[in-house]
Amino acid sequence: MSIEIPAGLTELLQSFTVEVLRNQPGDLVEFALQYFTKLKESQSKGAAVGHEQNSAFRHGKGVNFVEEPMQTDSENGEDEEDDEEFIAPVINRFTRRASVCAEAFNPDDEDGDDEDAEPKIIYPKADEQRIRLQETCKDILLFKNLDSEQMSQVLDAMFERLVSPGEHVIDQDDDGDNFYVIERGTYDISVKVDGIDCCIGTYNNHGSFGELALMYNTPRAATIIATSPGALWGLDRLTFRRIIVKNNAKKKRMYEIFIETLPLLKSLEPSERMKVVDVIGSKMYKDGECIIAQGDSADSFYIVESGEVKITMRRTKSQLNMEENGAVEIARCTRGQYFGELALVTNKPRAASAYAVGNVKCLVMDVQAFERLLGPCMDIMKRNIVNYEEQLVELFGTNMDISDPTA
Ligand code: CMP
Ligand code: CMP
Repeated sequence: MSIEIPAGLTELLQSFTVEVLRNQPGDLVEFALQYFTKLKESQSKGAAVGHEQNSAFRHGKGVNFVEEPMQTDSENGEDEEDDEEFIAPVINRFTRRASVCAEAFNPDDEDGDDEDAEPKIIYPKADEQRIRLQETCKDILLFKNLDSEQMSQVLDAMFERLVSPGEHVIDQDDDGDNFYVIERGTYDISVKVDGIDCCIGTYNNHGSFGELALMYNTPRAATIIATSPGALWGLDRLTFRRIIVKNNAKKKRMYEIFIETLPLLKSLEPSERMKVVDVIGSKMYKDGECIIAQGDSADSFYIVESGEVKITMRRTKSQLNMEENGAVEIARCTRGQYFGELALVTNKPRAASAYAVGNVKCLVMDVQAFERLLGPCMDIMKRNIVNYEEQLVELFGTNMDISDPTA
């Protein structure tokens, strides 16, 4: 005799089980009553507004009704052993949270035993998938300061999502559910201006998005739409907050003083300066390593944290200080100085190359964060661009157009 499992039953029970595990209710029956009542209510609401009808069951959408901070009772010490391997159900992959809930985790809490209090989410992956995921994540700035244990937990918790052209990965004003890293595909970033959607930028086969709502507990600040078939890796809100936001709190303590001393950032409010810390990643370069190559397209901005960076330019006509490859050294940047802004400001390829002199550590910011956060610093940067031109006239004796590195 074969027994047919009703459509949606597995997802329904999985969603419920996740909530039970998260909340550890004393009275299971009472909890179940509340859970299913809320689920019914949210379904009725969905039907009333005429969208995502029955989606709760179709996509396994559950209710997350933790209004209180999520807590796992670890006082009795029992869960400390249980919490290592929690296989997350597939259900949460493509669903949006119904509401932003208060977080159990306080990023400023240094002791942070919370790390062990939440069940760890693991999406099992084939070797091939894990290799692809590692490759995709290797340049993600938000992951740069994680230790190997944290990075491994992040990779475990990530799940693959394929998207089609026109698909909205994120809608502005929604609650934040996941952070996304791009494996491939192009995506438009659109923001409402006076109620009208304006495309303010694009992602082209790499980068990440969706961190803001999760970091600051705010609604989504932009809409992200796939403009080609694409592949993304998602990281759920809880893991993001437990690991990335917590790490950012450490980063803030580490970089607070340095960031305060940077002349470029003086025109930012203190809270804006701290947002800069949230998005920067720290990268190391070995002696002679190329940080920026002249003529390349640009996606990052750099501040020297330690060591020295040599800026060189290929100028065939110049006879001065020629190195073997025909490049001329035009500047050096040391601690606190920045470079790599010119191409981002002018929207042109890199005007010069940058090489590490000895071991170098740089703080790196991606172009989207640069545009979002450094608007108030543009005047200083533009003044500096004028200095570049004067410096080049001094070196080369001619007025050169640095916004056209191929000239
Ligand atoms: P979040 O607000 O969670 O969701 C939308 C995402 O778009 C946002 O996080 C950022 O990762 C990304 N984004 C890129 N550029 C911008 C921008 N200029 N303003 C707001 N969000 C942006
Ligand atoms: P970008 O063009 O993005 O990449 C190379 C960087 O070299 C450039 O930004 C500047 O930050 C830096 N640079 C320093 N001096 C000069 C100069 N005289 N002309 C052009 N770029 C310079």
